[in-house]
Amino acid sequence: MTGADEFAPLRITYRTDVATTATNSQEAARIYDDWAEDYERRILSYGYSTPAVAAGFFGRYVAPGAGSVLDAGAGTGMMGQVLAPLGYHDITGIDISENMLKVAREKRVYRDLRRMELGRRLDFPDHTFAAVVSTGVFAAGHAPPESLTELVRVSRPGGCVIFSVRTDVYVEGGFRDRQDALEREGKWRLLQTSEPFSHLRYEDPGLKVRIFAYRVR
Ligand SMILES: C[S@@+](CC[C@H](N)C(=O)[O-])C[C@H]1O[C@@H](n2cnc3c(N)ncnc32)[C@H](O)[C@@H]1O
Repeated sequence: MTGADEFAPLRITYRTDVATTATNSQEAARIYDDWAEDYERRILSYGYSTPAVAAGFFGRYVAPGAGSVLDAGAGTGMMGQVLAPLGYHDITGIDISENMLKVAREKRVYRDLRRMELGRRLDFPDHTFAAVVSTGVFAAGHAPPESLTELVRVSRPGGCVIFSVRTDVYVEGGFRDRQDALEREGKWRLLQTSEPFSHLRYEDPGLKVRIFAYRVR
């Protein structure tokens, strides 16, 4: 067996590519329901770094004790697991996949975990959260740019919204337009953007994301 052949089984379970082919939210939920058990082991083996980079921005703009945090598209809870040891303990997670939430529940780092769909109205009152974080969710076949309007609605004035966007959907998927429109409407103000970085460098170094940090007005 050659070196390349040894990695053949890994290629067959190349799931981030599969996940971006979802054409509707039910399909995305099904893909992640199927993937949940093995998601973390596999995505970490691909060098997944988005939660780590987002945590840098989060620590810069959100004080521990600032109030409730929403992890939008929490998945198996990797972000909660990064934030909890840094002193953020009031975290609510939402996700469209019940099986991903089930894995997150086992970690016991979230105050609450609920099945909810980004892109529709969220079941939270206005101004509920002091901060919102979302990693790995704004990509092809995942949550649409309309989700951002809801994330602003559920954030308190003065709160922060910190999220990753895949560079291949930023312009073409309508994220730049939605982000700029929210700024023009006076709903939020851009604090900082990261440089684009390869968030899955062992899977495909050509895929990149940027992290955005906004202050809600
Ligand atoms: C790549 S995973 C990222 C999970 C986690 N945030 C992380 O960084 O590990 C994408 C997550 O987005 C969720 N998702 C996709 N579309 C969604 C939608 N419209 N509403 C809520 N969650 C969604 C999937 O179920 C999955 O858990």
